[in-house]
Amino acid sequence: MPLAEPMTPTALDLAPLDLTWARSQFPSLAQTVNGQPAVFLDGPGGTQVPQRVIDAISDYLTHDNANTGGAYQTSRNTERMIAEARAAMADFLNCDAEEIVLGASMTALTYAMSRSIGRELGPGDEIVLTLLDHDANFSPWKALEEKDVTIRAAKFNAGDCTLDMDDMERQITRRTRVVAAGYASNAVGTINNVAGVVRLAREAGALSYIDAVHYAPHGVIDVRALGCDFLACSTYKFFGPHMGVLYGKREHLQRLRPYKVRPNTNSIPNCWEWGTLNHECIAGIKACVDYWEELGRRANPSATSRRAAIVAAHAAIRLHERALAEKMIAGLSAIPRLKLYGIGDSARLDDRCATFAVRVDGHTPLELATKLGDRGFFTWDGNYYAINVTEQLDVERTGGFLRIGLVHYNTAEEVERMLAALREIVNL
Ligand SMILES: Cc1ncc(COP(=O)(O)O)c(C=O)c1O
Repeated sequence: MPLAEPMTPTALDLAPLDLTWARSQFPSLAQTVNGQPAVFLDGPGGTQVPQRVIDAISDYLTHDNANTGGAYQTSRNTERMIAEARAAMADFLNCDAEEIVLGASMTALTYAMSRSIGRELGPGDEIVLTLLDHDANFSPWKALEEKDVTIRAAKFNAGDCTLDMDDMERQITRRTRVVAAGYASNAVGTINNVAGVVRLAREAGALSYIDAVHYAPHGVIDVRALGCDFLACSTYKFFGPHMGVLYGKREHLQRLRPYKVRPNTNSIPNCWEWGTLNHECIAGIKACVDYWEELGRRANPSATSRRAAIVAAHAAIRLHERALAEKMIAGLSAIPRLKLYGIGDSARLDDRCATFAVRVDGHTPLELATKLGDRGFFTWDGNYYAINVTEQLDVERTGGFLRIGLVHYNTAEEVERMLAALREIVNL
């Protein structure tokens, strides 16, 4: 089985990303701050949404607002809408709709799933995590120490912030029951060798649980090709509303025992969904995937399915973000006393997202973020919950990093203006 889905047609056959059209879809991008255009470099914390997502949420509340299970029109419409959103997410991740579990957030879904998996674990069982992960794929598993499960954590290489796969291999033993790892780091942008992690987990007979929250806006996800057991993401990081989505292999969703209320169904995936879901946001998820599809069809008008269009959108995005990353790395490297954490070699752009963690001597990350914010550049400072990363790199005590996170709606001109503003701020 191939490790990654081939991007057909090849990137060379694609039309470039239709950036003018893409930006015109996002009304919030037109805002200004102190007379300056707002530049959204906070994608890793949450992305903006296209108008169609806003409309879908509003339309749902206007016309179909109801609970599921009622013997009347709006309730039936709600059920149909949820089924459509599930099918759309199944195309986004390349799985069956019944393998899509919807929930409040990736963190909430991961706590729910880790509790259920943990029901079967006890003394002698081990879980392998990574020190590069967001805490949402760390603490829910670490909580199983209360059942005397042993927690191990694979290290990352401090030099380029890549996952130490040798250490990962050492940590996984015949007692490992779960390997939980991130697809990409929300702090330093590294794209991990998740195919390698999944393979190591499988060989040890352990379940793999992949956090794809940071990767989803940047690269195509194919859970079938990857062969992972679970994969979680959050739609608000890829141009949708604030919700989480969990892919679970059908056999696991059927076999594992969810914590659930008695009247709820025992059928998957609903038995994994707690209480009444956020229906209006689910309507927004369907519209979000529609946006991906249209973006993809502009890159490849002959895409024969929604999945093919999504793959084409990702291919076009990857090329665009790559060019932005190259420009950003060159510009950051030219700023004196600035340290870029993570991969800084432009020849290795395949191994990173356009997410940059930096520090500048003599300036706290909060000070830099505030001064950039006053000029209309929205960045982030701190640890972004990747607390093991900031602790290992010894920057937690001093404010973490300044994070500059690009997504596809960012432009080369925005990157240049941000670099100019940063140069001006650090030279003040
Ligand atoms: C890599 C990563 N994993 C998990 C999360 C948590 O996602 P959620 O807010 O949906 O719980 C985040 C949020 O920033 C993240 O960046």
